Amino acid sequence: MPKHQCICYKKAQKTHALIFLVYSQQNFIDMNAYSIFKYLHSGFRYVVLILILVAIIQALVGYTGKKPYTEGNRKINLFAMISAHTQLLIGFILYFLSPYVKDFSKATMQDTEARYWTVEHWSMMLFAIALITFGHIRSKKATLPEAKHRAILLFYVLAVVVIVAAIVQSHRPFFGISA
Ligand code: HEM
Repeated sequence: MPKHQCICYKKAQKTHALIFLVYSQQNFIDMNAYSIFKYLHSGFRYVVLILILVAIIQALVGYTGKKPYTEGNRKINLFAMISAHTQLLIGFILYFLSPYVKDFSKATMQDTEARYWTVEHWSMMLFAIALITFGHIRSKKATLPEAKHRAILLFYVLAVVVIVAAIVQSHRPFFGISA
């Protein structure tokens, strides 16, 4: 092979290697962003569920026992709402990274799994988060401790029912993180 051809060939090889490196690194970055947010979102469900359950238990105890509405009660209810809003934010980012989310085509709507991740999951969860937010506002506005506890009890229970129904409907394990 003449010398100038040999140099050109080597240059082309180097360029290909560089393109391959950039491309594979891009894939690596994309894949990592997806798995990071997926693990974060999947694991954070426990924080959300535990805080909501604690809020429900203390509202039940407060309401049935006619107990005062303490600063501790208020904080737990607030943290439960904040955790739900955080989960909404993580879920929103994940929505644009997940390969399970498809376009809004007819084919997607006919496919149970694609429809669930594209439309149903976020709408159900958003509804649950709206219930939590509404319950928290109602409890804040109420003056009597009994009414404050009742608002949390009612709306947080409704929210947890919707969240559990949505997770069950996903056919993913309720406990544990899917690969
Ligand atoms: C209280 C709120 C929420 C809870 C408890 C929740 C819970 C979950 C759970 C348990 C999974 C399955 C994870 C796994 O398979 O390991 C999941 C997946 C997912 N969630 Fe949520 N979610 C919530 C809100 C949202 C919202 C508001 C959005 C979108 C705006 C969203 C988007 C997604 C997406 C796209 C996936 C699929 C991930 C994948 O497998 O590619 N989530 N969520």
